[in-house]
Amino acid sequence: MLLRHFLSSCVFTVFLVSPGFAQQAADAVEPEADTGVSAFANLSDAAQSALATKEAGEPVVADDWMIAAANPLAVEAGAEVLANGGTAADAMVAVQAVLGLVEPQSSGLGGGAFLVWYDAASGEITTLDGRETAPLAATPTLFQDENGERLGFFDAVVGGLSVGTPGTPKLMEEAHRLWGRSNWGDLLEPAITLAEDGFAVSPRMATSIANDAERLQRFPATAAYFFPGGTPLAEGQTLQNPAYADTLRQIAQHGTDAFYTGPIAEDIVATVRNADGNPGVLSTLDLALYDVVARPPICVDFLSYEVCGMGPPSSGALTVGQILGMMDNLAFDDPADADVWRLIGDASRLAFADRGRYMADSDFVPMPTEGLVDPTYLSERAALIEAETNALAEVSPGNPEWDHAQLWGDDVSIEFPSTSHISIVDGDGNALSMTTTIENGFGSRLFVRGFLLNNELTDFSFATHADGYPIANRVEPGKRPRSSMSPTIVTEGGAPVLVVGSPGGSRIIGYVAKTIMAHLAWDMDVQAAVSMPHLVNRFGTYDLEEGTDAVAFEEPLQALGYETNIRGLTSGLHAISIGDTLQGGADPRREGIALGE
Ligand code: GLY
Repeated sequence: MLLRHFLSSCVFTVFLVSPGFAQQAADAVEPEADTGVSAFANLSDAAQSALATKEAGEPVVADDWMIAAANPLAVEAGAEVLANGGTAADAMVAVQAVLGLVEPQSSGLGGGAFLVWYDAASGEITTLDGRETAPLAATPTLFQDENGERLGFFDAVVGGLSVGTPGTPKLMEEAHRLWGRSNWGDLLEPAITLAEDGFAVSPRMATSIANDAERLQRFPATAAYFFPGGTPLAEGQTLQNPAYADTLRQIAQHGTDAFYTGPIAEDIVATVRNADGNPGVLSTLDLALYDVVARPPICVDFLSYEVCGMGPPSSGALTVGQILGMMDNLAFDDPADADVWRLIGDASRLAFADRGRYMADSDFVPMPTEGLVDPTYLSERAALIEAETNALAEVSPGNPEWDHAQLWGDDVSIEFPSTSHISIVDGDGNALSMTTTIENGFGSRLFVRGFLLNNELTDFSFATHADGYPIANRVEPGKRPRSSMSPTIVTEGGAPVLVVGSPGGSRIIGYVAKTIMAHLAWDMDVQAAVSMPHLVNRFGTYDLEEGTDAVAFEEPLQALGYETNIRGLTSGLHAISIGDTLQGGADPRREGIALGE
């Protein structure tokens, strides 16, 4: 078949071409990365070798433990914890603390995260919800002007209005309390040392800063850090962040109470409330009341596996689960066949229709959570696809089983790709999958105490109603905005076989679902699965990854009735497969590595 070479050529090759308009817009927040080995010349031999392995398109192989994340300095910090007998939860604390310094545009203390944990001793999977909350003073019209018109996306993002109560510090502390064994303060030490001694600005960080110059220079503290003397930080420049070191030292000594109460909390609130031109409504009470929530995982059967992830307020596990649950009813064993991408594309469109209608923070709105992933419901939805030979002419939300008569309007929200993903397996066999974010690249652009504050509230719907019906994901005080983050652990017979997740806004769902299919159904090793060119359909056009073999599907998919769009698709997949050995894969589209022993 015309596309027969697709599967065999799935080792990722990028030919950088001039970006189109849509890509330029995406580049404003998350640029393509130069992942050259030379950019990280001061790394350990093991990390240098891991970078070279990634560039060769091979998985990193190890016996005891493995870690994969978005920046080699962060991975090294986590690897040292694991090599010294620390748990995956311990390593995550060290990794997240360093990521907040070396990849500040994507995640950090000022943001939120979701964590999925497989416990080797009990065989159980738990999820921790460290999502930001809307301030108690927020109202459903937070992102509307005085005439009830929705604000422009960046008018809402930049400044205080979009800032939710950060959850990441408390998530780090709670995971450590539940599953850690290393000394808490020691885990923050690598980040403190790097912040005090300085680290080399990575290519990706430098490009991100240059691409966001206007917004980053709107607030004096942010401009002073990212544009010292008015000049953007350059790749390789040594950067110190003593304020970040001081914040971490206080958290090391006093726990996260030092963050959620007292002078740090007061500075966060003052920064949000005094943001020039766009003040927010966060209060010290919001910070003092913040808590992480432990929730049961959402799990869906797929082939001989169980795919488990983060339920509401994330739409991740439900939407990934719906796609895979529908595919489980269909024949999709040949990814070189354009018709397989019709099945995947329409399963995704049907899942996104349900997502837009039903999915939000289920602590605030009733949701048909079980009905959405009920196997009978998913087989009925899959039958809609199977009955056709072309793209479905109409896609609308279904009627999953539900004990409510609630009618919802469809969500109106905008999501840009940003965020970071950490996958870890420790020497005890515990597995951790955590996706972490400050939402847009550089979040709200507000910088305080050495870190950026999130703009997570713009993940809420800007509209409150659609066609007269309330929207489930509207803003409400204390509510958590719907997420697409999909940290995932796949098990077989109760044992973990794959740890995976990605950044990428609502495309995260497609990236993760496809990587699971690539590894578990199409037998690609974990690096090939991560590297595989992207074809992603959310609810509209079929996005094909520019500069890759995915472009060969343009004409066949158009013939099947899809509009197509060739564009950069900057995922940041980090995955670990667990079998006779551990195998790690790191996304060639980002700077990260997998490292193991
Ligand atoms: N802000 C990205 C997400 O939560 O999906």
